[in-house]
Amino acid sequence: MKPNPETPVSPPCACANGTSRRNFLFKVGVGINVVAGALLATPLIGYVFASFIRKPAAQWITLGPLTKFPAGTTRLATYRNPNTRPWDGKTGDLPCWVRSMEGEKFQVFAINCAHLGCPVRWFEQSRLFMCPCHGGVYYEDGARASGPPPRGLYEYNHKIENGELLVQGGFIPTLARPLSTT
Ligand code: FES
Repeated sequence: MKPNPETPVSPPCACANGTSRRNFLFKVGVGINVVAGALLATPLIGYVFASFIRKPAAQWITLGPLTKFPAGTTRLATYRNPNTRPWDGKTGDLPCWVRSMEGEKFQVFAINCAHLGCPVRWFEQSRLFMCPCHGGVYYEDGARASGPPPRGLYEYNHKIENGELLVQGGFIPTLARPLSTT
């Protein structure tokens, strides 16, 4: 049937527009919540599954020529952690203590205290390593002397190759994962 041009045409229902706007805003809200949820969940999932991911393997890394470590000294050395990513910056530089003895014998200690991981310092006069956090003390051979540390300093496996001192490192040692098996 043809509409009578003289019959007033009623305006379109206002509720149709209102409903579609509400639907649109609802969908936008759901979308924002999904994105926010994914952003929050990613680090959480990473944390939960981190223990199942294969841990970085230790690698042989040079600390430099033997001439850097004269016999009778204990010196700080630094190596670049091969397991770091470019954005890790300076945190990828791992310091360690090198004890050099007569006859090209060495001990290389991780810098982190075996208690809660503070960096230990070497005191030449007392020939002790001391931890500034809770007073942990270690002898020059890395053995525990006193304080809360449950063991001696973590010690790197090391070797000499082509006149350079190399250590097997690439991660921060912990009680669960010490550096050396000896
Ligand atoms: S962290 Fe070194 S004694 Fe506690």
